[in-house]
Amino acid sequence: MRTLLVVIMCGEMLVSLARAQSPPRPWMLMPMPAELQPGSGQLVLDPSFSVTTTGYTDARLQRAVNRFLNQLRFETGMLPLDMNLVRGPAATLVIRTGHASQEVERLGEDESYILEITSAGASLRAPNPLGILHGLETFLQLVENVPSGFVVPAVSIEDQPRFPWRGLMIDVSRHFIPMEVLKRNLDGMAAVKINVFHWHLSDNQGFRIESKKFPKLQKMGSDGLYYTQEEARELVAYAADRGIRVVPEFDMPGHATSWFVGYPELASGNGPYAIERKWGVFDPAMNPTEERTYKFLDEFIGEMAHLFPDRYFHIGGDEVNGVEWSANPAIRAFMRAHGIKNTDALQAHFNQRVQALVNKHGKIMMGWDEILNPRLPKSIVIQSWRGQQSLATAATEGYRGLLSSGYYLDLNQPAAQHYAVDPMRGPTANLTPDESARILGGEACMWAEYVSPENIDSRIWPRAAAIAERLWSPESVTDVDSMYQRLEGTSRWLDSFGLTHNASYDPMLRRIAGTDDIRALRILADLVEPVKDYTRSKLATAEATAATPLNRLVDAARPESAAARHFATWVAALLAGGMKPDTEAQARTLLARWRDNDASLEPVARDSFLMQEAVPISRDLSALGAVGLEALDYLDRGQPSPEQWRAEQLARIAEAEKPQAQLLLMIAPSIRRLVETSAGSAAPTTGK
Ligand code: ACM
Repeated sequence: MRTLLVVIMCGEMLVSLARAQSPPRPWMLMPMPAELQPGSGQLVLDPSFSVTTTGYTDARLQRAVNRFLNQLRFETGMLPLDMNLVRGPAATLVIRTGHASQEVERLGEDESYILEITSAGASLRAPNPLGILHGLETFLQLVENVPSGFVVPAVSIEDQPRFPWRGLMIDVSRHFIPMEVLKRNLDGMAAVKINVFHWHLSDNQGFRIESKKFPKLQKMGSDGLYYTQEEARELVAYAADRGIRVVPEFDMPGHATSWFVGYPELASGNGPYAIERKWGVFDPAMNPTEERTYKFLDEFIGEMAHLFPDRYFHIGGDEVNGVEWSANPAIRAFMRAHGIKNTDALQAHFNQRVQALVNKHGKIMMGWDEILNPRLPKSIVIQSWRGQQSLATAATEGYRGLLSSGYYLDLNQPAAQHYAVDPMRGPTANLTPDESARILGGEACMWAEYVSPENIDSRIWPRAAAIAERLWSPESVTDVDSMYQRLEGTSRWLDSFGLTHNASYDPMLRRIAGTDDIRALRILADLVEPVKDYTRSKLATAEATAATPLNRLVDAARPESAAARHFATWVAALLAGGMKPDTEAQARTLLARWRDNDASLEPVARDSFLMQEAVPISRDLSALGAVGLEALDYLDRGQPSPEQWRAEQLARIAEAEKPQAQLLLMIAPSIRRLVETSAGSAAPTTGK
């Protein structure tokens, strides 16, 4: 027995000794590079830091290096203000670029780079500037703030993306998103190597881009909230500077009510039409049987094709319910005359006509998975949103596609859930190599029913970074704990680009509380999440519209509660018997704080209208804190909890698990586990 103990102790000492010798250093990189070899030592950053570019260079590359230096200066505060590019090989960071990239970034262009950092200096090499842009972002992520100053660990990185299309779609129709918000999001995208901004510019609720040919589109279809063409060009240039393509989407023939306000003759019904204020699927649709529709679209697409230089042009195509078509006798007659059997076939007819126009203006058409139809040429790209099967079907039928099913940020799912979705798994897992090659990547989607300029960043970030990693890093990079650890670092890092996913939280809570003292409210807010999927509109007491205020606790609460996730991890460790007494003490402190929180919140809640709906959740939090402590007491005593007690507590927990104020109290499942486990005589003790 004694020998065994000694062996165990030696084993533990060995483990801690090994840790002392080489502390496991998590690489705070997101996305993880394709290949990374740790070196020894570190590059110390000090005011002598300098950069030189060799080989090919151009104005965009120089701007990127200047941005990099500004960012480094901002992060470290160490670099002198006049620091600039130096000539000659003696610079700390030597950038070597092979040749120019395409004038307008092309899908599939080489984005690879090699970054080597030693204690003596750093080298960044890439075939073209796109790789340099990515490599500079990687360098910035590697900078560490250590007690002696700022350092970059020695490392050798050879990196390239797994998929060429790594996108973020932002819907600017349901809520208008101003230019500066889009720009800071483009900065965030560049930081995590997302290379496509899919700009959902028109929908039922707003037409958001200036047309000079058809000015009633934006004048009557946008409430005055639209981007001028000059702004669109500015944004495209801003994105291009960061290695990001901009793909515009003009949703048609459905999701197009805003077009019909100024141009009712495009529609299939009688009108008049007004900007839609509600959410959902609506009947109005373009008239696919009238030549004037295509004449209009020809001119419009021609105008937009000039404004947006990317080769790809998104025509939407989702959720056409056919109601307006079926209700129109002339359209029914057209269908009979042309042997068009149903409204899906009529939409395919429309898509064929539109594809010819898109092609005529030099673009490749893409659309949501509803546009998949064998009558369309193989050049079109399918964006899968209703399920991953459509991606597999498209690839088998010879079409290229992207995955968005599983990447909808508006559904408020945890990062781990998005992270587990892989474009090449599930229905796509058994494709042939040729078919697999048609899968271009994916896009995270930010639909804007429930976002404002104030909280949109917190819906996109940091979760979009987990999707960015899925699309950039090798398929084998799947460790969820590592992802979360790096995601927390990435979230802080993204703050430095002016993103407000963290910065807007306290101001929103202060407004809800009506006071600066938000300590108690923040404890509650940190533990709740908005309801998932599409339940928010189902739970609303009044139908949500564009006028629904977005200033409630549900709008401030983060889509994923880190505090609840940490607590769940702790409970899992406890129940697995791996709990240390000091960790239990910390958990008891937390549970006691939650138990007592309602008493602190109550005086604030009394004075604030916006706080009223939070009161029942606050009471639940207190109740659950108390229940958790009692369950721990039973577990610590190794004494099974009485059945009657458990039944009462589980009923209380079940109440707390129900959504309230469109929020979920995320610690409820963990408290349930504690209570359930307290029943068993085999319950692991916590070592006391
Ligand atoms: C979609 O979500 N309707 C593409």
